[in-house]
Amino acid sequence: MAQQGLRGKSLVHIQDLSLPDIEHVLDVADKMVPAAEGKQRVTSAQGRLLATLFFEPSTRTRLSFEAAMARLGGQSLGFSEPKTSSAAKGETLADTVRVTSQYADVIVVRHPQEGAARLAQRFSRVPVINAGDGAGQHPTQTLLDLFTIRREKGPIGQQRVALVGDLKYGRTVHSLAQGLARFGTEMVLVAPPTLQMPRDQVEDLKHAGARVTLATRLEEVVGSADVLYVTRIQKERFPDLEEYRKVAGTYTVDAELLAQAKRSAIVLHPLPRVGEIDPEVDSTQHAKYFQQAFYGVPVRMAILSLILGLGE
Ligand code: NCD
Repeated sequence: MAQQGLRGKSLVHIQDLSLPDIEHVLDVADKMVPAAEGKQRVTSAQGRLLATLFFEPSTRTRLSFEAAMARLGGQSLGFSEPKTSSAAKGETLADTVRVTSQYADVIVVRHPQEGAARLAQRFSRVPVINAGDGAGQHPTQTLLDLFTIRREKGPIGQQRVALVGDLKYGRTVHSLAQGLARFGTEMVLVAPPTLQMPRDQVEDLKHAGARVTLATRLEEVVGSADVLYVTRIQKERFPDLEEYRKVAGTYTVDAELLAQAKRSAIVLHPLPRVGEIDPEVDSTQHAKYFQQAFYGVPVRMAILSLILGLGE
């Protein structure tokens, strides 16, 4: 049974989940929506603790995990600023995890280094959820992105999805492309040549049977896309700020561009946006990125519930 598939397991990479696992998370998340909205009371996580270890800035991911745990009746502890933890004294991630995993039933880790969550998993006595490891993966964001597409557009495999922006350093798109490939979704990877998705990842997508094409100009893609998934250029990952300046502001989604889009096309963004989507888009029928941010709560409720084996 798919539910057995997540119980007691870590979620580090989107490939840790089978397609039935992913579909089960989305189905459970559907049922969590009323409780996520505060319209229904759930107490299944009473007495359970979530530890959040955030070594990198976050608003949505950390707060929606805490909201999800609270909406399930459980509690959270943790830090959002490594300066206030013993990491500032030089403690290794391994030791921080060894210790904090004794205080909680599940831990969520965000870290600037790729592979950090996998390392955390090795030293943890409880399941580890990866909330972003450098330019690596962000699997829970992918689950909420898939959930948003399914709720707002219908069958995931029937969409044409344009992934736009920083496909080199963006962990959300690394996970999402692999998640979409599972559904056989058609993808267009739109990026400046220097920020295109790493070649080995594109090859992996093709090997998985995904229909993938590459593009540099958003104008060529906007008319045929069902979903525009826009991302921030990941300034903090550039070894050279001069290189960042060359590509900053490459793409802007505004009303003029969207005049060429399908009426039913939706615009998603993991947020934060820093100029990629003009605020004038917010009031159009295309804008779904704030709804997407809300879906982080029911989806993370589903993930926590399944990993902790709380039943539905
Ligand atoms: C993303 C991240 O941290 O990877 N944010 C998020 O979790 N919603 C995207 C980003 O920072 O650009």
